[in-house]
Amino acid sequence: MRHARAALVRDLLPVFSIDIVEEANGAVRQLDLAQIFGDEVKEIWLEVGFGSGENLVACAKHNPQVGIIGCDPFFEGVGKLISRIDTTKLENIRIYPGDARDLLRALPPSCLSKLFALFPDPWPKKRHHKRRLFQRSFLGSIADSLQDDGEVIFSTDHAEYARWVLGLFLESPYFAWEVRSADDWLQHPKDVASTRYELKALRAGRRSLFLRFRRKGSVLSSGGESCLG
Ligand SMILES: C[S@@+](CC[C@H](N)C(=O)[O-])C[C@H]1O[C@@H](n2cnc3c(N)ncnc32)[C@H](O)[C@@H]1O
Repeated sequence: MRHARAALVRDLLPVFSIDIVEEANGAVRQLDLAQIFGDEVKEIWLEVGFGSGENLVACAKHNPQVGIIGCDPFFEGVGKLISRIDTTKLENIRIYPGDARDLLRALPPSCLSKLFALFPDPWPKKRHHKRRLFQRSFLGSIADSLQDDGEVIFSTDHAEYARWVLGLFLESPYFAWEVRSADDWLQHPKDVASTRYELKALRAGRRSLFLRFRRKGSVLSSGGESCLG
């Protein structure tokens, strides 16, 4: 990381980062999102694996009433996002520079209205499939964190990973696939910004696929109680 960016990260990451606290009994303390984002924010979105932050920053710019959490353990990417936050002066972004599974454990139930997972690592070799982020247990965690009717937007340029993820969502009792025609998974959605990995796939002649799922209503849900106080 270049010197100037490293200094920016040192100064600004503590301001924008979310800390997860483990209690003495080993339980994870639930995040207070109202305190983290303040009164202006009416909804919370999460982007898992934001890479260089293109979509995160575009969403934050176009949706000032939304608090957006970006989660990625890749430090170079965190540096790029911090630089973008510094340039744009956006105040509705927070960063968790770690594993999405740890963050999900600390989120209050039913707090998210949207979750992006754009081009997560496909781990193409069969012996590495267990490293894929999308697993049955991960779907359970995101189902817990999403509000009824909350959305998941997933993209990939790897057809077999798309089938894997689609299979997980179709077998889940918590989600419905939002699809009317092939355009829905072949066309780049209007509410998603192009990312580095999408452009990389395009240059290599690989087609990107976009899948959108909706959290079904749950009899156990909090009935719309807000996690923003
Ligand atoms: C292939 S890159 C895609 C980056 C970006 N979304 C894009 O489309 O350009 C996958 C990203 O997921 C991040 N990642 C991998 N495992 C993760 C995890 N457990 N939680 C959060 N992010 C993760 C990586 O650090 C990397 O930045």
